[in-house]
Amino acid sequence: MALQVHKFVFLLIIVGLSYSSLLCCGRNIHGYTDDPIIIRRGLRAVNQKTFNVDDYGAQGDGSADDTKAFEKAWKEACSSSGAVFLVPGNKNYVLKPITFSGPCNSPINIQISGNILAWEDRSAYDSRHWLVFKKINNIRVQGGGVIDGNGKIWWQNSCKVDKTKPCKSAPTALVFNDCENLVVNNLNIQNAQQMHLSFNGCNLVKASGLTITSPEDSPNTDGIHITSTKNIQVTSSSIGTGDDCISIETGSQSVRAMDITCGPGHGISIGSLGDKESKAHVSDITVNGANLTKTTNGVRIKTWQGGSGVASNIIFQNIHFSDVKNPIIIDQQYCDQDTPCKKQASAVQIRNVLYQNITGTSVSKNAVVFDCSETHPCQGITMQNVEIESSEGDETAQARCDNVKLSKIEDVSPHC
Ligand SMILES: *[C@@H]1O[C@H](CO)[C@@H](O)[C@H](O)[C@H]1NC(C)=O
Ligand SMILES: *[C@@H]1O[C@H](CO)[C@@H](O)[C@H](O)[C@H]1NC(C)=O
Repeated sequence: MALQVHKFVFLLIIVGLSYSSLLCCGRNIHGYTDDPIIIRRGLRAVNQKTFNVDDYGAQGDGSADDTKAFEKAWKEACSSSGAVFLVPGNKNYVLKPITFSGPCNSPINIQISGNILAWEDRSAYDSRHWLVFKKINNIRVQGGGVIDGNGKIWWQNSCKVDKTKPCKSAPTALVFNDCENLVVNNLNIQNAQQMHLSFNGCNLVKASGLTITSPEDSPNTDGIHITSTKNIQVTSSSIGTGDDCISIETGSQSVRAMDITCGPGHGISIGSLGDKESKAHVSDITVNGANLTKTTNGVRIKTWQGGSGVASNIIFQNIHFSDVKNPIIIDQQYCDQDTPCKKQASAVQIRNVLYQNITGTSVSKNAVVFDCSETHPCQGITMQNVEIESSEGDETAQARCDNVKLSKIEDVSPHC
């Protein structure tokens, strides 16, 4: 490290000297000014070293346990200055639960070209996660590879599938915890044990070009789960699973989802918020440009009774539904448990929601449902240019509205 700092300073001096010599003579023959930031980037590129998991003993044969090799390669990549962590293409690496921890010495580029498959034996898992990236700043994860959670065995043991089984949670396939300045690009994530991809406590995230798939009947397999995360963009991604395509949970702020294809699944959800009488806060959420096909909900805000806090400044625009069951829905009586939820006065306040440029078809009669809290009616709901028809030619789409204060409606059908 010290050596590199010296090299860096040395180079700066050289560059500085030659630059000032150019200045001294009143001519800059190159016609540009030297920018130390560019110099630094150049240096980093020169020093960027590749850590190939194969060089650390990974087999990639689709059956051997490659966890140790990945751990070793990670340890060295993370402590080097400028690294590419490489999972080579055309191979199948099998991993048990693994945590890639930071902070690392410098930015890391994780290139996943090959396939990563989950170890099948459930007894190897003692946490709720499979692949975890934790406390790392400045990482880029990309490469076009496949991350496969091998979820079948977990789904079969879910209480939602087999009522005789106890209700236990299963691992999330790919988790980013407390990461900052993160790019996740061009990856295929499939057959997660439970959720596919989760951002938890992150800041400054760009996720794009993701394809996320699992069977329509796989339980709780959310596509992208965003919780306590700020300044995140999810773009140009296609998600079809057994649960929410995107779920945005409490603590999230400044979330953008654009150019999203969703279905099958439960649609794009904010919440559920306020479960177990918790305080929730989400704000500044925009979904702009989405096609939802044959999902059970379209764009949904769901809160439990008994919660508190606020969900505010939410925009749903340029959205198309094809045969969606509940295209537009706010559900403040959300109750996802075996026993009925009791009536409670406290609720998460929903405020300032805009629905704009929305078209498509609904397979249920109620294309629009605002089922808001009696004690905390939804406030500032605006609808503009919304037209949803019934999928059945002879039915008319309807709106069901309880405890909602509409601030404006313009060219909306059906409406309250
Ligand atoms: C949605 O689908 C329509 C027609 O199939 C297409 O023109 C549009 O670009 C799609 N939009 C998105 C965001 O995928
Ligand atoms: C709404 O749709 C119209 C026509 O497709 C488009 O010109 C306009 O930009 C859209 N509005 C927004 C806010 O995206």
